[in-house]
Amino acid sequence: MAGAVPEKASHGHWSSRYAFMLAAVGSAVGLGNIWKFPYEAGQGGGGAFVLIYLAFVFLIGTPVLVAELSLGRRGQLSPIGSMTKIAEAEGRSRLWSLIGWSGVVGGFLVLSFYSVIGGWTFAYVIEAATGNLHGITADGAGALFTSLLNDETKMLFGHALFMGVTIFIVAGGVEGGLEKAVVYLMPALFLLLIFMVIYSALTGDFGRTLSFLFAPDFTKINRDVALQAMGQSFFSLSLALGSIMTYGSYLTKDVKIGPSAVTIASADTGVAILAGLAIFPIVFAYGIEPGSGPGLIFASLPIAFGQMPFGDFVGTIFFALLAVAAITSAISLLEPTVSYVCEQVNHSREVVTVYVGGAIFALGLVSALSQGDSGIASFKIGGLDFLSALDFLTNNIMMPLGGLFIALFVGWFVSRKSMLDELAMEEKWFRVWYFLIRFVSPVAIGFVFYDILFG
Ligand code: PFF
Repeated sequence: MAGAVPEKASHGHWSSRYAFMLAAVGSAVGLGNIWKFPYEAGQGGGGAFVLIYLAFVFLIGTPVLVAELSLGRRGQLSPIGSMTKIAEAEGRSRLWSLIGWSGVVGGFLVLSFYSVIGGWTFAYVIEAATGNLHGITADGAGALFTSLLNDETKMLFGHALFMGVTIFIVAGGVEGGLEKAVVYLMPALFLLLIFMVIYSALTGDFGRTLSFLFAPDFTKINRDVALQAMGQSFFSLSLALGSIMTYGSYLTKDVKIGPSAVTIASADTGVAILAGLAIFPIVFAYGIEPGSGPGLIFASLPIAFGQMPFGDFVGTIFFALLAVAAITSAISLLEPTVSYVCEQVNHSREVVTVYVGGAIFALGLVSALSQGDSGIASFKIGGLDFLSALDFLTNNIMMPLGGLFIALFVGWFVSRKSMLDELAMEEKWFRVWYFLIRFVSPVAIGFVFYDILFG
């Protein structure tokens, strides 16, 4: 049959739809929602950013999520293997495998700095547990964060611990330990976030937060905000870095991809909005600059923990759960490279994971040392420190471009029949998705890029 891909799977599968959903939500919900979304919204002027972000998540990100899961399930291999196999089966050029390459390399790059930030959350678990946040002022919280960035031992230790845990879990296979961790800890994080929103609403400036996040100031919409919001929507949904495609390759045929993708995107967006609602009341009440950048949650939330009853305890739990959410995302970033290398070499999964993880750790050292005032920090790429430059390259260029090519491939180079067969959706929903992936996604992503390059 033309366009068909052999059914035989080359590796294990999720034990149930529930296991898959937990892993996919675990991948999507992470530092991107709680650390990155609030500070990017702050820099992008609040409501204007949030509005474009939501449009990108539901009109472009979710259809691309559906496309990636389908490609993974159809290919049943690593992103590079799957893309090559499907391109061949559809009678297309093997060059389409570049989508897989870009995902695997991008995931490798992202994890190298994601782990550094994951290390910050570990450092804050210790700060909270040892009472260092007790009664902390706004200035004190800002100073604590700056001192962390300049403390090379803490930065390297945090990074090493974060990568070590990630490697340990991935080496053992994604199905086992991950499932148990996610089933209790993700809901716990969600509940704690709701508690934080209530606490912040009662003690901080909630009115200003609502108008800041939800009353868009249209004069703030410009091409940089659009690019940032687009990059963030892809980052938050874990798109175009091979993660979702790899998780799709562990999917069984009976799982309905469309509804799963909508649930993943909604949960992910819900957590990001909750994080914004928890952080900005404190930001405004204490006169912190909303656009102050990557330190925003570390400069604001400790003030709340420093004041509330049992704040040391609540703060410890909060940062520990944030670390768990970050690890479930990191696992999904390591998995694509590991699955590709396992396909290529004759070594055990454990050995491959240690080598790949070790290489990512080594690259991450440069990002870790780029944050303080050390020698490496003076090395700038286009005015950005190494960590921020990698973030810009992956978030604003590789991920949206990857998304563009995934949309073009699935919308125009894979037969409609193959996609209909893979998605098994009602015709009317399929039509909506097909229209979004063929026209809306490529045009919107292309438009933002065109404007950046030639506008
Ligand atoms: N979605 C994760 C977050 O929001 O923290 C980060 C991430 C994981 C991005 C996996 C990309 C990816 F492939």
